Amino acid sequence: MVTLFTHLFLLFLLTTAASPEYTRPGPRPLVLRQHSGSDSDPQQVHVSLSGKGYIRVSWITSDKNVQPTVQYGKTRGKYNLSATGEITSYHYLFYKSGQIHHVRIGPLDPGTTYYYRCGGSGPEFHFRTPPSAFPVEFAVAGDLGQTEWTVSTLSHIGARDYDVLLLPGDLSYADMDQPLWDSFGRLVEPYASTRPWMVTQGNHEVETLPVVYRNAFMAYNTRWLMPYRASKSTSNLYYSFEVAGAHIIMLGSYADFYIGSDQYRWLKADVASIDRRRTPWVFALLHAPWYNSNFAHRGEGEAMRVAMEEVLYKARVDAVFTGHVHAYERFTRVYNNKADVCGPVHVTIGDGGNREGLANSFENPRPSISVYREPSFGHARLRVFNSTHAHWSWHRNNDTGSFVADELWLESLAASKACKPIRVPSKSQNEEP
Ligand SMILES: *[C@@H]1O[C@H](CO)[C@@H](O)[C@H](O)[C@H]1NC(C)=O
Ligand SMILES: *[C@@H]1O[C@H](CO)[C@@H](O)[C@H](O)[C@H]1NC(C)=O
Ligand SMILES: *[C@@H]1O[C@H](CO)[C@@H](O)[C@H](O)[C@H]1NC(C)=O
Ligand SMILES: [Fe+2]
Repeated sequence: MVTLFTHLFLLFLLTTAASPEYTRPGPRPLVLRQHSGSDSDPQQVHVSLSGKGYIRVSWITSDKNVQPTVQYGKTRGKYNLSATGEITSYHYLFYKSGQIHHVRIGPLDPGTTYYYRCGGSGPEFHFRTPPSAFPVEFAVAGDLGQTEWTVSTLSHIGARDYDVLLLPGDLSYADMDQPLWDSFGRLVEPYASTRPWMVTQGNHEVETLPVVYRNAFMAYNTRWLMPYRASKSTSNLYYSFEVAGAHIIMLGSYADFYIGSDQYRWLKADVASIDRRRTPWVFALLHAPWYNSNFAHRGEGEAMRVAMEEVLYKARVDAVFTGHVHAYERFTRVYNNKADVCGPVHVTIGDGGNREGLANSFENPRPSISVYREPSFGHARLRVFNSTHAHWSWHRNNDTGSFVADELWLESLAASKACKPIRVPSKSQNEEP
């Protein structure tokens, strides 16, 4: 009993020790968005990058007769182009999804607003393609969920322009309750239908039903189809893509990552394909952090770090963004648990606003490689100005708006004379290291 109280008291001290000047408001309830249109009206519309110059438009209808067709053009109300894609759906126990439409459109011009309509009728949407050159701005938010805090984070994301959203896992927190995937799709639609959203999976996407139903990632893979084939990946759980001078690697914390696994071999081939003159910046996203001084989820990313950190290090990846821990924590450049000027900056940004609340307690004393940590909801911005300079900022949610609580100028490792990429001779695809 005494030890328990000591422990609780210590936790209390640790909690209050983190950024005492900011009083955090209490938990906020779940918000569930209903569909207000007709059965044939598109819902849960979202767009993603789908290979150079292409966008994938995804949406859901309950009406089976709606065609997977997107009409689009550069002028409001005038859709002189159109493309047709595919319809899919899935069953999950007693739940049957609506018709899930995926349509690839393009080639599109960079930095251009397109107006579009889904399924031949219904409301007009619009998105803007990312620019082909710097500057480019990414919004980064993990572990979103669908609470009032998520609403707050999303409103801050939408309040300032950005080109592409990056999400390092844990989207809906449906946790097998499939209609929650639909309400999540509706909640994010105003944002995800206007800018490409690029996601990778978290533990809440797994949704395996042991014995009865073994298909993991059923809802995630069907609804949030990412352009994995364009980067020669064989799985929606890991892939890469390029935006205006940045090569972005989306890794799968819940796909096999061991040396010799498909993901590992794909990653080695992917980093070998990077041309730093064309994409001076390289970023990676994954869910379970490799560096973490929070008591939540300790060590969960360790096996993946041991397997893959060397590959990212030798490729001179500039930064790694992770989620899972519901707090913000930024590390210095690190490799193999030590500060290393040629290693990536690691940042945990698992504080989008999910229903599980914040991870309040950090180990003390703070490890020297951890630069800034705070258990608050928020999102981040990564503005890449040019081939050498990018600015990272973390925007904490507060009741009146958002507040920049942490920021950092990043210099690309491609420009560093001391950190030349270590070329690993390309081996044949089948070779086990
Ligand atoms: C569609 O309209 C745009 C102008 O809004 C024009 O530039 C483009 O050539 C047109 N495309 C076709 C296929 O007619
Ligand atoms: C890159 O952008 C940074 C920040 O705006 C600026 O200080 C620097 O001079 C720029 N470098 C080049 C080569 O334009
Ligand atoms: C909350 O955010 C606003 C900006 O929207 C800022 O002026 C204010 O200082 C912030 N308050 C706290 C406590 O961080
Ligand atoms: Fe998670």
